[in-house]
Amino acid sequence: MLGTVERVNETARGALIVFEGGDGAGKSTQVQAVARALEFQGRTVKRTREPGGTPLAESVRGLVLDPAHAPVDADTEALLFASARADHVNRFIRPAIERGEVVISDRFVDSSVAYQGAARGLGLEHVQELNEWALRGLTPDLTVLLDVDTSVAESRRTDRGLAADRMEGEDRDFHTVVNQAFRDLAAAAPERYLVLAADQPIEVVTDKILDRLAEVLS
Ligand code: TYD
Repeated sequence: MLGTVERVNETARGALIVFEGGDGAGKSTQVQAVARALEFQGRTVKRTREPGGTPLAESVRGLVLDPAHAPVDADTEALLFASARADHVNRFIRPAIERGEVVISDRFVDSSVAYQGAARGLGLEHVQELNEWALRGLTPDLTVLLDVDTSVAESRRTDRGLAADRMEGEDRDFHTVVNQAFRDLAAAAPERYLVLAADQPIEVVTDKILDRLAEVLS
């Protein structure tokens, strides 16, 4: 057992693993479970989220999700998410990967493509191009898409008694477009995505993610 842990440490290379999905897909539960399992295997794991992950990006998060600012101009919204991402990538994610750590992010650039590009109508490619500045070539090693039915997501959120932020307050059609955009992104690059139905038992989803990560991180 100990030997296994030591071996992982010797060969560890840094990686970026991203969790995406519509609001209420259960991402944070899976991020926590997967991070714990990887730590148990002896890896150094950094959990983070977008928008956020650095003090500046967390401040931008407060601004961009605040219902008091609705309605926000779509271009401004896309730029705010991208600016938070630049800080997050340059100051947090890239240095951690260079140290050989596994970064697990709750949301990343695909959220901008799905929410701002598809649902806000800015265009998928336009938003991808805008984000090139923030990413400078960084691509996740694996993106786990927790695919959730829009109405299930809504009721999970209501059950947890969570107040809606500015995005969650959007109507069902908006969230249906977001979910479809995520599926399309995954279908276009299956080698970089793992798509899982989010309505399976939590442990089943975690095991499937860990199986795929064993390949990705080897
Ligand atoms: P969050 O509370 O993290 O939502 P969830 O718990 O569902 O992940 O809020 C982030 C919100 O911001 C979410 O509604 C998606 C949205 N968002 C964008 O619109 N564009 C982006 O680039 C990112 C990262 C998030």
